[in-house]
Amino acid sequence: MAYNFNITSNRRDPNILNKWTFYPKDVLPMWVADADFPAAPQIRAALHRQVEHGVLGYAFPTRTFMETITARMKKLYHWDVDPDWIVYTAGVNNGYNIAARILCSPKKGYLIQTPVYNEFLETEHKTGARQSVARLVKKLDGNRISYEVDFEAFERGVKKSGMFLLCHPHNPVGKIYSRGELKRMAEICLENDVSIVSDEIHSELLLGGAKFTPLASLSPEIGRHTITLISASKAFNVPGLACAFAIIPDAELRKKFFDTAYGMSFEVSSTGLTSAHVAYSGRADAWLKELRRYLTANRDFIIEYMERNLPGVRLTKPDATYLMWLDFSEYGLQPSPFEFFLNKAKVALSDGGKFGKGNEQFVRLNFGTSRRILNQGLERMRKALYSL
Ligand SMILES: Cc1ncc(COP(=O)(O)O)c(C=O)c1O
Repeated sequence: MAYNFNITSNRRDPNILNKWTFYPKDVLPMWVADADFPAAPQIRAALHRQVEHGVLGYAFPTRTFMETITARMKKLYHWDVDPDWIVYTAGVNNGYNIAARILCSPKKGYLIQTPVYNEFLETEHKTGARQSVARLVKKLDGNRISYEVDFEAFERGVKKSGMFLLCHPHNPVGKIYSRGELKRMAEICLENDVSIVSDEIHSELLLGGAKFTPLASLSPEIGRHTITLISASKAFNVPGLACAFAIIPDAELRKKFFDTAYGMSFEVSSTGLTSAHVAYSGRADAWLKELRRYLTANRDFIIEYMERNLPGVRLTKPDATYLMWLDFSEYGLQPSPFEFFLNKAKVALSDGGKFGKGNEQFVRLNFGTSRRILNQGLERMRKALYSL
């Protein structure tokens, strides 16, 4: 291995709030979706050069920059993207909240599938768009959880919506939807004249042999009804640099997106652009390949650990992301597994209840960390449960 993911960085700067400084020092943070690894060295080298150059002025992506993104879409997915379709935006959250302002109305809100990334639920408060929920259906096989689309609930939700906000790969359950599921969801949206916003921020964090298909690449017609949001931030671990891209084939929709964002949240950081360019040009791909291997081993380590030590825990086997979705219903933890582990194990996880109703007995664990820290977190959780 050319890269060592056993080494993580100390992030305990008292002046900066991050997942390592939010809770007291004795708490191990395994919540916010950023990783403990330093960013890819190729990206850090480019950032060093930028800082050494000294001028950190305003910066915007050129057409050549956008061509770097289109070349990556072609290489990874055989997806033909026109550079003119790409709009930059300060983050993926910005992107779908801008889209909600365009696509939703007092009569037509937005549709989500819970459990889902907690910020998707917040779009209602942030934009005033009404939320509809089509819950994913939980399937259990031994202690393994997986989720499927309930197409009847989905269709009912679509009829009340102007925008379907898809999380793909899915946070927190780590699912990559099959082509069949994607196609059927898209067709229902198209039949009802509903636009799709596909948050694909985790698309390059693939585990095992998983393959990913962008929803918009399924057909030109689906593409014209879709805003695809991408960012190098998760896979290359630069989420603090606030830089993302919206791929919007439809010219009218693209103009609305641009006009709504203009003057509000439009600029991206020059360092974010630098890192995105290195990432999309493929210069850090060898690093990414090893990161995926490391994260896949972390995922499998958790699964084995739970089977051996805590067989009552039900859990997902994510296809992508560094997020594991764990169900502690069997243990009756009070007042919730999140509070229990925070107080008794000193491990900060993400509270399942924040990912939609009915998920209060779940937590999301971030395994984007060294095996040592991961093991420490799991041991703390095990000991807290054994002490009951
Ligand atoms: C599915 C998903 N979308 C968006 C974001 C945040 O994206 P950004 O930092 O670009 O706003 C996250 C971060 O955890 C996420 O998991």
